[in-house]
Amino acid sequence: MTRTVYVNGEYLPENEAKISIFDRGFLMADGVYEVTSVLDGKLIDFAGHAKRLERSLNELDMASPISMDDLLEVHRELVRVNEINEGMVYLQVTRGAPDDRDFAFPDPEVTPSSIVLFTQNKPGLADAPAAKKGFKVISIEDIRWGRRDIKTVQLLYPSMGKMMAKKAGVDDAWMVEDGKVTEGTSNNAYIVKDGTIITRHLGNEILAGITRNAVLRFAKEAQMKVEERSFTIAEAQDADEAFVTSASTFVMPVVEIDGAQIGTGAPGPVAGRLREIYLEESRKAGI
Ligand code: PDD
Repeated sequence: MTRTVYVNGEYLPENEAKISIFDRGFLMADGVYEVTSVLDGKLIDFAGHAKRLERSLNELDMASPISMDDLLEVHRELVRVNEINEGMVYLQVTRGAPDDRDFAFPDPEVTPSSIVLFTQNKPGLADAPAAKKGFKVISIEDIRWGRRDIKTVQLLYPSMGKMMAKKAGVDDAWMVEDGKVTEGTSNNAYIVKDGTIITRHLGNEILAGITRNAVLRFAKEAQMKVEERSFTIAEAQDADEAFVTSASTFVMPVVEIDGAQIGTGAPGPVAGRLREIYLEESRKAGI
């Protein structure tokens, strides 16, 4: 089925959608994005994603090309016309296409931001077999730029990290800076020790995951202990459990780090419970 996508105010078949070669997203990675999951045909935590998008745009002095109300309508329309029951909506805003390449930002009055949205149909996303087996990860050095709290489209190093993982025969990589885990290539990282959930505190070093925010809230509501602090790979290898969270994996157990088995080597009860609660609550609150 040919997808219907959204580009700068128009709904088009994917093969007719076009962006200029001078678009700063293409030339400079001068753009931000969001990925919102869809369960039962409904958007999960749209408000959280919209809020983080506004923050990313503000941090980069980039004009928003659309109101958040209209953005919701575009998301819903794409989910509807593409008949998405489970999957994702990808959204990207860039600083637009000036008429030539230039390092300096264009005048936003002359060059409006570009906006693109498309859906990804992923039947079985919530019931992913990987969640029953858990991820194996390797650790790699975190050499990304210093503003990882902004969700930019500069994804070259995370892509390289995924390839390093693939080459090592595992599922993902955890990035490490100054001896401490920052996050996964496209997810937030957690360990569980003696019943306490430990995940890195927010700051410029990591993305403030929308799933992270929800999962920590649910964990606290379920009387689980949460500590927001950094941890080492050695501490993770010695933990009872580990897991990652993101809009595309929800809560995904991690069972091996750099070849060392975590806990029993099978997905742990805390990750399992959090995944259940997250999916249940998200389905209830989807819009
Ligand atoms: N990635 N950290 C990084 C570096 C990420 O790229 C992501 C999300 C997260 C988790 O954020 P959230 O819970 O809001 O999805 C953390 C998306 C899914 C992606 O790039 O496809």
